[in-house]
Amino acid sequence: TRIFRVAIDGPAASGKSTTAKLLAEKLGFGYIDSGAMYRAITFKCLRMGISPADPKNATEIGKLAAATTITFPNMTSVILDKKEDISSEIRSSTITSNIGGVAANKKVREALAEMQRGLARGDYPETFEGRKGVTHHGKSIMGMVMDGRDIGTVILPDAELKVFLIADSQIRAQRRYDEMVKRNKLESGETVEKIKAELEQRDHEDRTREVSPLKQASDAVELDTSYLTIQQQVDAIEKLILDRM
Ligand code: C5P
Repeated sequence: TRIFRVAIDGPAASGKSTTAKLLAEKLGFGYIDSGAMYRAITFKCLRMGISPADPKNATEIGKLAAATTITFPNMTSVILDKKEDISSEIRSSTITSNIGGVAANKKVREALAEMQRGLARGDYPETFEGRKGVTHHGKSIMGMVMDGRDIGTVILPDAELKVFLIADSQIRAQRRYDEMVKRNKLESGETVEKIKAELEQRDHEDRTREVSPLKQASDAVELDTSYLTIQQQVDAIEKLILDRM
């Protein structure tokens, strides 16, 4: 069966994963968090004592990524090498601050790209387990939502729908701060201003790296979420999907 692919890209903390997850839930689609895959490789490197920032480690990290399996058995779990649930570990600020060297590694991106395309094709059935898809005007489709930085440009350039989420960086920082408070992940000394600086730094790195930089695809629909509620974001994208069915 045809899988309707929704690519959601945008800068850090623009609401991609929250929106993508709720959208996938509402429509009975699969959901893939591609950022979690870069986080998983970073996690594996750090645990093995390999520094992602050291260019001398690039070849080794590329090989490590090619030999890694990352799967998503449901909306919230990230499983490393078919056995270890690292969903919570990969959200730490240590991972976030070390991810740049992994995300800029060409071999890592090639390995993850292959995995991501396979996931979108349905090569890993657990991604779609229990997903029923959506019926609209008598037509039924199965779909998958993938969020990241290069999904619409590089990973799925022929996605049925591409959305580029943007939001004011002050608002993104405040949202990230609130989320950390809610999840009890706020580290001491953390402020909205610091988070804002970190987000802007990461966006700058993501936009200016040589391989697969963060960029809006020419055929993506831009959605500014600065003054939208999550529900409004989800509804807006749902409408774009139903219009294209
Ligand atoms: O989306 P998330 O904040 O978890 O992504 C973490 C980092 O992973 C991004 O800042 C970016 O460097 C990298 N990433 C990427 N390409 C993707 C998804 C994430 O380079 N498709």
